[in-house]
Amino acid sequence: MKKANRVKKVIGVLLLQLALLAGCGSSTLSVSETDSLEAETAEEGQGIVVGFSQLGAESDWRSANTASMLDAFTQDKGYTLIYKNGQQKQSNQITAIRTFIQQDVDYILLAPATESGWESVLQEAKEAKIPVILVDRRVEVVDDSLYTCWIGSDFELEAKKMAAWLKAYTEVNRIQPEEIHVVNIQGTIGSTAQIGRSRGLRNAALENGWDLMEEISGDFTETKGREVMAALLKRFDNINVVYCENDNEAMGAIDALESAGKKVGSNLAAGEVMVVSFDGVNEEAKELARTGKISCIAECNPLHGPRVEAIVTQLQAGQRPDKYNYVDEKLYSAYLPIQSIEVDGQTYEIVRP
Ligand code: AHR
Repeated sequence: MKKANRVKKVIGVLLLQLALLAGCGSSTLSVSETDSLEAETAEEGQGIVVGFSQLGAESDWRSANTASMLDAFTQDKGYTLIYKNGQQKQSNQITAIRTFIQQDVDYILLAPATESGWESVLQEAKEAKIPVILVDRRVEVVDDSLYTCWIGSDFELEAKKMAAWLKAYTEVNRIQPEEIHVVNIQGTIGSTAQIGRSRGLRNAALENGWDLMEEISGDFTETKGREVMAALLKRFDNINVVYCENDNEAMGAIDALESAGKKVGSNLAAGEVMVVSFDGVNEEAKELARTGKISCIAECNPLHGPRVEAIVTQLQAGQRPDKYNYVDEKLYSAYLPIQSIEVDGQTYEIVRP
C-alpha cells in the first residue's frame, strides 16, 4: 500500500454496489445504466486504492465488463475503487489518469478506447511509480515498461475463427469464393478490437478470394450498426454476408436489413443475408444466434474483474504477472453441419448458443 499521508478522493465502491444491488444486478446492467454509474467522490483512507478508467458504455459487452470490474474490487476484499467513465473520449481518460496520479492511487486500471496517444500520460504514471494494468484493449507505445501487463482477448484470433467458420460454410454449401459479397461493419476505428477483427477479415478475404466490398465503422453501437447497414443497402444490392464487429451492431444491422425487406439467415442459396458477429454477451443477440438470424458469434469474454484482481494480488505479494494474458473464447453457432473449425493447427468445437 502507498504512503499514509495522502488524501484520497475516492468513489465509494459501496455506493456502486448498493446501486447494483438495488435492481441492476451486474449481468443485467444496460448500456445507459453503466453510463451513469459514475458516483460521487468521498474521502476514504483505507485499503488498496485502485483507479479504473473505463472507456465508455457503448455496448452490452462494455456494461458487463464494467460490472465485472466493480464486483471484483470491493471494500470487503480491501479495495477502494475510483471508477471513471471516459464517455468514449480519450481526453477524458487522460484526465482521469492524471487525477488518479494526483490522488496517489496504488494501481491504475486502464481500458483504453484506442491504441495511440498514451505515451505521455503513461510516462507520468511511471514517474509516479503507479503500476498500470491494461484491460481489454491495448496501447501502442514504444516502451512497453509504461504498463505492467495487459489482460484481454486475442481479437485477431476471434476473426480467424470466424473466417474459418465462413470458409467451412462455403465448402459445405459448395459456394464459390467470389460469390461471397461481404461488408464489414467495423468497431471503433483504432481500437484493438477493431484492428484485430478487421485485419482477420481482410486477410481471410484475400486468402479465400471473397469479395470484401466495404468496411465502415459502426462504432460498436446498435444505432450506428442500423444506420450504416441502411446506407450500405442503398449502395450495394448484392450483399450476402454482413460481418459485424460486435453484437450490438449486428442487432442494428438485422433491423435495417429486415426493414429493407431482406430475409436474414444462413441460407445464402435461398437469397438470405448472413449476419455474423462478436461478443455473445447480450441475451437478445444470443437468442438471434439460436434462431439462426446471427449465423455465428465469436465469443469475446468481458468478465475480466476477477482476473485483474488476481493480478493485483500477485503484485501486492511482490510477484511478477505475465506481461500478456489472453482469455480463452468459444465460437457459437446453431448451424449444425459445421461441428468444428481449425485455426493455426488448433481445433475449436462449435458451441451451440
Ligand atoms: O474491446 C472489446 C469490444 O468493445 C467488444 O467486442 C465490443 O462489444 C466493445 O464495445
